[in-house]
Amino acid sequence: MTKPSNTLSAKVLAALEVYTEESRTAKTHVVRQKNPEFLAGEMQLSNWIRKGGLGADNYGEFLTPYLEHSQHMHHPGFIGHQVAVPHEGASIADMIHGVINNPMAVYEMGPTASVIERVVVNWMLEKCGWFTGAIDGFDANPDNGAGVLTHGGSLANLTAVLAARAQAAPNAWTEGTPHDLAIIAPAATHYSLARAVSIAGFGQNAIRTAPVNDLDVLRPEKLEETFRKACDAGQKVFMVSINACTTATGLYDPIDEVAEFCERHNLWLHVDGAHGASALLSQKERHLMKGMARADSVTWDAHKMLRTSALCAAILFKDQKSMVGTFHQDASYIFYGEDQIGFDVGPYAVECTKSALGAKLFWVLAMEGEQGLAGFVEKSYDNTRKFYELINAQPDFTCPYRPEANILCFKYDGVDDNEAQLALREKILKRGSFYITTAEINGVRYLRLSVMNPLTSVETIEELLAEIRLCAA
Ligand SMILES: Cc1ncc(COP(=O)(O)O)c(C=O)c1O
Repeated sequence: MTKPSNTLSAKVLAALEVYTEESRTAKTHVVRQKNPEFLAGEMQLSNWIRKGGLGADNYGEFLTPYLEHSQHMHHPGFIGHQVAVPHEGASIADMIHGVINNPMAVYEMGPTASVIERVVVNWMLEKCGWFTGAIDGFDANPDNGAGVLTHGGSLANLTAVLAARAQAAPNAWTEGTPHDLAIIAPAATHYSLARAVSIAGFGQNAIRTAPVNDLDVLRPEKLEETFRKACDAGQKVFMVSINACTTATGLYDPIDEVAEFCERHNLWLHVDGAHGASALLSQKERHLMKGMARADSVTWDAHKMLRTSALCAAILFKDQKSMVGTFHQDASYIFYGEDQIGFDVGPYAVECTKSALGAKLFWVLAMEGEQGLAGFVEKSYDNTRKFYELINAQPDFTCPYRPEANILCFKYDGVDDNEAQLALREKILKRGSFYITTAEINGVRYLRLSVMNPLTSVETIEELLAEIRLCAA
């Protein structure tokens, strides 16, 4: 019999441990920019596909280049996109699901994962102020909210648009989407919302752009004017979608004030908290989400700020009836016409086959506890403010705003224009010690950091600034 340490799985696990440790201690690069042909050749992709034969004795021929050329997210220099550096617990959950493979849109296909999803969703609802009682009590309390985990925030946003449409136009499912309905959203809204609007049959003309300040934060005092203009044009506004926080800058739209406006006009308020809803966990930072409980729905990605590997997102509703009305499907092989929310999530989600998403977040929670995760959010936000102080104090760098979350924009003043900032990023990526992104605010291109990694320190940022100066020179 093969000894466990000689199995393919055991060897791959050992390689992953080395990979993680080398990344964490910065003994390797963050990313190497190679072209697709080179990578396909290094990994011998067509060879393996045609001939097979990869196993415990030769797995390294594939795995070594695969890991070598991946994005090393555990590296402190990974400060790029808003993707969690996965917690070990989430990785373990991925591994377990990869073995037992219990897709769980229906309870009987994944009973344990279904129960975990419900408990995790109840926990998230509780943080929004939409759930009271024991999170694993399962008593049907009609005053509690409801929600479902989705494969990503984009699907969560789509589900929110469909739920709001079902409320505003209950016949839309059968008769199609009325062409006079309109949604107010700021221009800096994540593109998935605009996609959802067209997928749901509204067309882009249904989006009325909300006025913002020069940092792209919504101006609530101007909403009335936007609303009137839509009415004058014969449109019926039924939904407002705002950002907590905005992808490019990490700045929060004022939920409480927008809720006031929505209540006045009986409009559905959706909060896209894909990145920033995790501030709800922290006593110190939850003021950024003030007014959350007054909204109707929220998108919340665990794979951004809750240390969970991609993907694990949630669409949460204040009123459980909102979720029930979203989809109307007959499928005799899977749906049995339940008239109240049960443990089958299939009727409420876009997906049919669904991964055990909740198990990943559960494992992180089970290892860190909710206080541990709150501490992670606080530390990330605190560190980002420290990095801001450091960068803003440099004579040759400018930050356009003080960060509210863990997203920070700045530019190097030693080069001229937008193109030059982009060129700087290209050079930095080529050298491989840092992964950063860029964003445009008000026509100006900034370098952009998402501080997702607990190991990114003041020293890391000092090294980054030195790298930028070097690249510019
Ligand atoms: C505010 C916001 N909404 C939605 C999304 C899309 O989420 P996902 O990438 O999980 O589909 C993002 C992604 O960055 C985001 O920042």
